Amino acid sequence: MINVNNVSLRYGAQKLFDDVNLTFTPGNCYGVIGANGAGKSTFLKILSGDIEADTGDITLGKNMRMSVLKQDHYEYDDFNVIQTVIMGNKRLYDIMIEKDALYAKEDFTDEDGIKASELEGEFAEMDGWSADSEASSLLQGLGIPTSLHEKDVKDLTGNEKVKVLLAQALFGKPGILILDEPTNHLDVKSIRWLQDFLGDFEGTVIVVSHDRHFLNEVCTHMVDIDFGKIKMFVGNYDFWYESSQLALSLMRDQNKKKEEKIKDLQNFIARFSANASKSKQATSRKKLLEKITLDDIMPSSRRYPFVGFNMEREVGNEILTVEELNKTVDGVHLIKNLSFRVNKYDKIAFIGDELAITHLFKILIGEENQDSGTFKWGQTITTSYFPKDNSHFFEGVNLNLIDWLRQFSVEQSEIYLRGFLGRMLFSGEEALKEAKVLSGGEKVRCMLSRMMLKDANVLILDQPTNHLDLESITAVNNGLRDFKSNLLFTSHDHQFIQTIANRIIEITKDGFRDRSMTYEEYIEEFYMK
Ligand SMILES: Nc1ncnc2c1ncn2[C@@H]1O[C@H](COP(=O)(O)OP(=O)(O)OP(=O)(O)O)[C@@H](O)[C@H]1O
Ligand SMILES: [Mg+2]
Repeated sequence: MINVNNVSLRYGAQKLFDDVNLTFTPGNCYGVIGANGAGKSTFLKILSGDIEADTGDITLGKNMRMSVLKQDHYEYDDFNVIQTVIMGNKRLYDIMIEKDALYAKEDFTDEDGIKASELEGEFAEMDGWSADSEASSLLQGLGIPTSLHEKDVKDLTGNEKVKVLLAQALFGKPGILILDEPTNHLDVKSIRWLQDFLGDFEGTVIVVSHDRHFLNEVCTHMVDIDFGKIKMFVGNYDFWYESSQLALSLMRDQNKKKEEKIKDLQNFIARFSANASKSKQATSRKKLLEKITLDDIMPSSRRYPFVGFNMEREVGNEILTVEELNKTVDGVHLIKNLSFRVNKYDKIAFIGDELAITHLFKILIGEENQDSGTFKWGQTITTSYFPKDNSHFFEGVNLNLIDWLRQFSVEQSEIYLRGFLGRMLFSGEEALKEAKVLSGGEKVRCMLSRMMLKDANVLILDQPTNHLDLESITAVNNGLRDFKSNLLFTSHDHQFIQTIANRIIEITKDGFRDRSMTYEEYIEEFYMK
C-alpha cells in the first residue's frame, strides 16, 4: 500500500501538480497517463524517493520493498548481466558484496567470523541461494539466453539491455513495482510476456505507458496527470478515454439537464462494463464502475504539436541506390545482400529485424561502415536523420532550448527559433529551460524541430513514435503523411505505417523482401495466407 498525502511540485513557473492525495493498493495495476511533460516520470520519482516534493509526503506499508524501472537507463554498463539483475534487490546484493569482501580478507578475525555468520543468516533468510537461478529464469522468460548471462551489460544490444533492466526490476518479487515506459524498445513477444507477468503479480504495480493496447491489457485503474492535478479512475484506458470524451461533450452541451446527463453516464457505464469482463478483477471493477458519478470524470486538455516538413529543393532522378549491402554485428549477419532503388515519392517502411534496420540507417547516413556492398545518394539529395537513441544530444547539456535549437539553425534569431519551439508546445518561459531536464517525449519533440529546420528532401526516421504521447504521434503521423518527398522509416505503430508508407521492405533472416504496397496489403499477402 502506498499513501500519497497532499503532494505538490513546481519547477520555476511551471506547476506540475498540487494537492495530490491518492492511495495505491496491492493487487491493482495503475496506469499513469498524461501528455509528454505532464510530470509522469517526476511523479514516479517522488513515489520512489528519488526526488522530494515541495509539500506533502509518501508513506509505504511496513517492510514494503519497491523496485523501479527507469525511463532512461545507462548506469549498469560495467556490470555483468546476472549481477545487474540481482542488484534489483539492493540489500541482497550488498550482502553478497560484503560477504565476498570478508572472505577475501587475509587476516580474517573472530569479529569477521561473527559478522560473516550474521550476513549468512540474513542471506539465507532472503533466499539468497536461489538468487542466481531466479535471475536466470527471469532472463530466459524475457528471451535472454544463458549464453549472454555472464556478459557485461554494455556488450548487449539496446533491446537486450532493456530486458535485463526489466528483469532487474522484477527480481526478488518486490511488493511494489514501478515501471516507466517498459514497452519502449521491447519486441512484441516480450511485451506479451510482461503482460502475463503483471497479470499474475500480487503486489502493487504502477506503470507509465503511452501504449493503448498495453494499458488496456494490464490496468485496473488509470492515474491521469492533467490540469496540474493527478486523478485516479477505475477502469482501463479505453474506459478512461471514452468517459473523458463523454464528459467533454456533456460539458459543451451546457443546456442539457443534469438528470439527462446522469442517464447518459449510466448508459455508458452499463455498456462498458458489459464488455469488460475477461480479466480476473472484472467483477470487482464492475462494482466500482457502477459507483462512478458525473463529478468523477473529467475532460482531457491534451494539446497537439504541429509537425510539418518542407524541403529546400525537390529530388532529382537519382535518389538512392543500394547494392548487395552486408553487415555483421557481434557475429550475427544482420543485413544480407540488401539491394533496392528508391523512386520519386517512395515512402518506405522498413520492418523486420529492428537492430538490422538501425544499422542500415546508420550506414546510409555515414555513421557506420558496411562490411561489403555499395550505396549511392543522388546529387540533389539532402538527408535528415532521426536516431532511435538521442541521449547524447541532451545528457549534461546546459543550453536552454533556444540555444539548443540554435546549434542546428542557419537563421539564428530568437524570434525564428521561438516560432519552432512554440509549434512544439514550448512557449514563453518553457523555452528557457535547460535541454538536459526535458522529459522523454519533450526530447523527441526537440529532435523533430531540429529535423524540420533542415529542409531536407529525404527523411530517415528510426522509431520516431517512441516516448511520444498519442497527440504527438498523430501530429508526426500527419506531418510525414503530408511530406512531399521521400521517407525511409521504421516504427512499431501499425496505423502509423499504414497511413504513411507506400512501399514495404522487410529485413528477414535470409535477406529481404521488397514490395510496393501498403502495410495492410503486405500483411495480408505474407502473413495471413
Ligand atoms: N530539474 C528540472 N528543472 C526544470 N524543469 C524540469 C526539471 N525536471 C523536469 N522538468 C520538467 O518537468 C516536466 C515533467 O517532466 P517528466 O519527465 O516528469 O514528464 P513525463 O510526464 O514523464 O513526460 P514523457 O511522457 O515525455 O516522459 C517537463 O516539462 C520537464 O521539462
Ligand atoms: Mg517520462
